[in-house]
Amino acid sequence: MKTVGFVGWRGMVGSVLMQRMQDENDFSGIEPVFFSTSQVGLPGPNIGVDVPSLGDANDVAELAKLDVIVTCQGGDYTSAIHPQLRAAGWQGHWIDAASTLRMRDDAVIVLDPVNRAVIDAAISAGRKDFIGGNCTVSLMLMALGGLFNENLVQWATAMTYQAASGAGAKNMRELISQMGTIHHDVQSQLDDPASAILEIDQAVANSMRGDSLPKEQFGHALAGSLLPWIDKQLDNGQSREEWKGQAETNKILGRQDNPIPLDGTCVRIGAMRCHSQALTIKLTKDVPMDEIHDIIASSNPWAKVIPNERDVTLAELTPTAVTGTLDTPVGRLRKMNLGPEFLNAFTVGDQLLWGAAEPLRRMLNILIG
Ligand code: HSE
Repeated sequence: MKTVGFVGWRGMVGSVLMQRMQDENDFSGIEPVFFSTSQVGLPGPNIGVDVPSLGDANDVAELAKLDVIVTCQGGDYTSAIHPQLRAAGWQGHWIDAASTLRMRDDAVIVLDPVNRAVIDAAISAGRKDFIGGNCTVSLMLMALGGLFNENLVQWATAMTYQAASGAGAKNMRELISQMGTIHHDVQSQLDDPASAILEIDQAVANSMRGDSLPKEQFGHALAGSLLPWIDKQLDNGQSREEWKGQAETNKILGRQDNPIPLDGTCVRIGAMRCHSQALTIKLTKDVPMDEIHDIIASSNPWAKVIPNERDVTLAELTPTAVTGTLDTPVGRLRKMNLGPEFLNAFTVGDQLLWGAAEPLRRMLNILIG
């Protein structure tokens, strides 16, 4: 059995990973060892199999004894530890949720339902670093990878509606606190059926702009509003999140030499953990809608096609419907006024599952065999 070390397993993505591994009985096929930066020597977590006490996540000599390391500890940890391990000659496999190593030539971005061939070729070539993709990119490809893999996408734009969880656990808490503050500030007026809606509206605006709104994490009101910038500002006018769209999609698909143009505006909205995306896809040819449905639905078991009808769309193609599930439904599928080669699509996916933990869990299983 392979010895697998876990680092950052207590954080939000790590906790989702632990839960998924228990749900799928993954721990029975490995010898898990848990590491910590702050609680070295304390008992390991209760995961249904015996585990040793917590190791030191900064002890390179201990880490170098492992066959596989799975880290959700974040980019700073990767930057500090990964080079030391490789410099020490460690030949094990490194599976990582952080973006630090993603775009390196010798690293693979893992999303096996979409790029299993790329992953298998990398394993055969002796590659050792397997990195989870950006959540928005992974969710877009889980939903629409069938069209990409059939070479039907000439270019695409993705306008995103990204959940608070993508910014972190504290941001999720802050979103709810903002909602509570706003509601609290107008509660008496809401309770009075005779109160004027424009006065309530003004009080809400005052609350959102006021000093008592909690905004330490986001810096601004997200509840009742939106934030049309995610991650750093780049020199070309894109946000870093927008830059990742084209760069990571083409790397996942193994087509850096012949990239598909992708761009769009990434927006934070007040959803908890589901990212949504509205896509305009320029097809390479006029493909009939029934073929498009078939290609998407048969590309993987999670890419469900939602008929482009009002009731089923509102019931099944929302963050509320999808949160906590592995489904990546795709709907609003229709040809646009722009012409028969222009496809409209809308997709929703849980940012912590296929957007973060699930590709790592599956990559571990591929390596375990
Ligand atoms: N960068 C993403 C977001 C999450 O902020 O929503 C991680 O891929």
